[in-house]
Amino acid sequence: MARLDEKIAIITGAAGGIGAATAEKFLQEGAKVMLVDLDQDKLDETAASLDAGDRVATFAADVSDPEQVAGYVDACVEQFGGVDVLFANAGTEGKFAPLTQVDFEAFDRVQKVNVYGCWLGIKHAAPKIAERGGGSIIITSSVAGIVGSAGLGPYVTSKHAVVGLMKTAAQELAGVNIRVNTINPGPIANRMMESIEQQASPEAPEAVHEGFEQQVPMKRYGRNEEVANMALFLASDESTYSTGSQFVVDGGFTSM
Ligand SMILES: NC(=O)c1ccc[n+]([C@@H]2O[C@H](COP(=O)([O-])OP(=O)(O)OC[C@H]3O[C@@H](n4cnc5c(N)ncnc54)[C@H](O)[C@@H]3O)[C@@H](O)[C@H]2O)c1
Repeated sequence: MARLDEKIAIITGAAGGIGAATAEKFLQEGAKVMLVDLDQDKLDETAASLDAGDRVATFAADVSDPEQVAGYVDACVEQFGGVDVLFANAGTEGKFAPLTQVDFEAFDRVQKVNVYGCWLGIKHAAPKIAERGGGSIIITSSVAGIVGSAGLGPYVTSKHAVVGLMKTAAQELAGVNIRVNTINPGPIANRMMESIEQQASPEAPEAVHEGFEQQVPMKRYGRNEEVANMALFLASDESTYSTGSQFVVDGGFTSM
């Protein structure tokens, strides 16, 4: 018996580093998976690379749009017969700038994707998860949901906000047997950190990379699969008494 046999999962941000690595693990463990991301071509590429036949499906949606969120949840129910797990993982780093210089629209967009995207996912998926007797909602926060980071104000604000969202949802949904937790990754080696490094110092992004590494007691970035392993634990029945908590995957970053 595999760890996610009989489970149906939605993963948002599924064409990105952490999302695709998690989809691979979920599929290896027997789940059926609905991949959600902005761009259909990238979703098709991801689905093809996963090579999981009819256990994988795709839905292009902007997670900040209420109708599109309802659309991906309905599509999952139609395709696979329900939802057991929502991995609300889509996110944007936004523009690197001090708070006094961030545009209203730029700040707003980061909250819409990173915060409203998770809330809308909970709003539409939780009733469907409850219909199947309960399950797991996992939100990707960040170490930026625990500590501040100069230049990343909109992102840090959004990643703290989803911790409050998670704690409240955990209390509201415990009665229908839905667990709600965040994963809080430290710097992970993928597109998002490369973008942050490039924005922080277009002339010397590698110096920013080294600076982040030095802040991690383990002296390295994490890998997408290391975050996916935590998502697998939280999606599986191994985590049935865990709710309302932050699960940190950061090489010791927030112990400092
Ligand atoms: N990479 C890191 O170091 C790191 C650290 C902590 C937390 N995180 C969080 O992990 C999550 C996954 O990011 P990643 O590291 O895989 O980076 P990534 O950029 O590879 O993946 C993010 C994915 O989200 C998608 N996305 C963005 N806006 C969307 C929207 N409006 N609707 C639907 N999809 C949208 C992107 O298209 C992309 O595929 C994000 O929430 C991110 O904030 C990343």
